[in-house]
Amino acid sequence: MDQKTKLFPELRRPLFYLQQGIRNVISKYLNNRRSDWEFRYGIGYREFLETSDQEARYYILSGILSEFVSKQGRKIDILDVGCGCGTLCPMIGNLVARYAGTDLSVKAIEEAKTRFPNHPQFHFSAEDFADLKESEKYDVVLFTEVFYYFPMRDIETYFSKALRMLKPGGTLLISMGEGPKAKWVWRRLLALQKPVKLLGFGGGKKSTRWRVGWFEPTVAVPQITGTQKT
Ligand SMILES: C[S@@+](CC[C@H](N)C(=O)[O-])C[C@H]1O[C@@H](n2cnc3c(N)ncnc32)[C@H](O)[C@@H]1O
Repeated sequence: MDQKTKLFPELRRPLFYLQQGIRNVISKYLNNRRSDWEFRYGIGYREFLETSDQEARYYILSGILSEFVSKQGRKIDILDVGCGCGTLCPMIGNLVARYAGTDLSVKAIEEAKTRFPNHPQFHFSAEDFADLKESEKYDVVLFTEVFYYFPMRDIETYFSKALRMLKPGGTLLISMGEGPKAKWVWRRLLALQKPVKLLGFGGGKKSTRWRVGWFEPTVAVPQITGTQKT
């Protein structure tokens, strides 16, 4: 607690929301800088991600993943892009053969590593999605509350990169909360590809409503040229 909030503890919450809200706007609309994420995790962003409203969406996502695991009939390999401090891990530990959690924030990844030291299936790395190698393939590539931090100019590139990182039969899952940037990003994504499923969930408040989309690599239909013989 800093000096101001020590003297006025009731300021702690509003100050947190103000500071992290400003950085949120910068990340979403101006420049998605690592330094803003380090700042947010430094002032207690993990606590915010673990509030009950937020936790509800991890349960929804783990239910979606669980259905995917039962269809596959085996544990799966997952890439969780922008995994934060590994908040989803406790709900999906029994579903994964390999979980690769990656995040721009070094602080978040350090925290994730200290939280889950004895889980050989969990691997964490501090990396920008843009720098990940495409040669690694996964059954599921997951972006929960991450895609709308990417600059609009990168949406197509990152979407197709994520699809290329899927194993055959794999699924790309993208979830985003409501808000103007999410609307623009969804519009762009839905124009690129029709999702297999699009689900809305959450509460009455705008800040607790989310949408999650399932995408699969589309099979390229060969162009038929000339006359076809039957
Ligand atoms: C809103 S938080 C969501 C964290 C977690 N996925 C969740 O649902 O609780 C967004 C996360 O995305 C990470 N992030 C933003 N841009 C990224 C990028 N280019 N590559 C990897 N992670 C990124 C941030 O550091 C942050 O931890």
